[in-house]
Amino acid sequence: MTGGAGFIGSNFIRFIFQSGGFKGRVINIDKLTYAGNAESLADVQAAQGDRYVFERIDICDFDAVKNCLVKYDVDCIVHFAAESHVDRSIHGPAEFIQTNIVGTFNLLEVCRQVWNGRNDVLFHHVSTDEVFGSLGAEGYFYETTPYDPRSPYSASKASSDHIVNAYFHTYGMDITMSNCTNNYGPYQFPEKLIPVMLLNMLEDKPLPVYGDGMNIRDWLYVIDHCSGIWAIVCGGRLGETYNIGGENEWTNIDLVNRMCELTAEKTGKDKDHYKKLITYVKDRPGHDRRYAIKCDKIKNELGWKQSVTFDAGLSLTIDWYLNNQAWTDSIKSGEYLRWVDKNYGGRA
Ligand SMILES: NC(=O)c1ccc[n+]([C@@H]2O[C@H](COP(=O)([O-])OP(=O)(O)OC[C@H]3O[C@@H](n4cnc5c(N)ncnc54)[C@H](O)[C@@H]3O)[C@@H](O)[C@H]2O)c1
Repeated sequence: MTGGAGFIGSNFIRFIFQSGGFKGRVINIDKLTYAGNAESLADVQAAQGDRYVFERIDICDFDAVKNCLVKYDVDCIVHFAAESHVDRSIHGPAEFIQTNIVGTFNLLEVCRQVWNGRNDVLFHHVSTDEVFGSLGAEGYFYETTPYDPRSPYSASKASSDHIVNAYFHTYGMDITMSNCTNNYGPYQFPEKLIPVMLLNMLEDKPLPVYGDGMNIRDWLYVIDHCSGIWAIVCGGRLGETYNIGGENEWTNIDLVNRMCELTAEKTGKDKDHYKKLITYVKDRPGHDRRYAIKCDKIKNELGWKQSVTFDAGLSLTIDWYLNNQAWTDSIKSGEYLRWVDKNYGGRA
């Protein structure tokens, strides 16, 4: 697993141990950037003992990755590690090019050399629907939709998707890929829309909504993304890419309003209490208008489907953040960075 200390990776590791019937050992390779929090998996470490191993490694470090693959005789990589925040990619694209493109290439090269033609191995690449660009009011992204990325983040992910695909066609490496819509749920770093709004609500701070608030995203509860990836890893056809989506489109403003209502119910506030905090702010440059995905392929081929409705998922997410304030306090105060410094030396 690469990037297993991040939002989706940590949920995925917990998911396969708890629900996926996984019988093997997870080696979690993560550089622990600002977005990685190894403490998010303290419960897994305690429950799984040596079936869960953490290695602080940068995926761009060829020798370190190679040593790791050889040392643990790794036979499957699920590749989550990435710089993942669009806003950060606008202000500083270099890290995105380095980790998302060069890092993915580096991993593939290590696999090509170490696996050396083995056909009992798998490289699964986790990607995003943002590679497809922006939709108008109508239409959907399919697996066959031409790529049209607009931000440095989506361009770097698109590039990595193409390189993974090339390793299948050129070297016959056993790969699968997935492109997923926006995820939400526990352990999401508090810079993404849903945790930002929620944590601001709890401090009665303004709720910043980009532009006119009418941008549309399709939202999927993170565990449903994890079960989709796991279904592909276990049964996906080699060389294929699968869309994973929520079929659950929301304008940003409707989403924030719904969150305000649900959070008010849980914190005993007046129904409109949090809505009064909504503040429209200058739009993000190149802000894609609408994403919506068709995921019939994974449903028909692998029997996957979403299991958590949006209200149920939002409710679970709000409860998790309300009950895990130590996790968010540690991130907001920078305490988790000091923990890494203490346990692993300097922060990347
Ligand atoms: N969050 C979403 O809504 C979403 C949707 C679709 C696809 N994805 C994709 O899923 C993957 C995981 O996303 P996330 O939201 O969990 O991201 P995240 O930012 O929460 O976590 C990324 C993890 O990767 C690690 N990392 C970064 N650079 C690294 C490097 N050079 N070497 C090793 N580790 C490194 C970080 O320390 C962190 O633990 C990404 O590939 C992303 O593109 C995310």
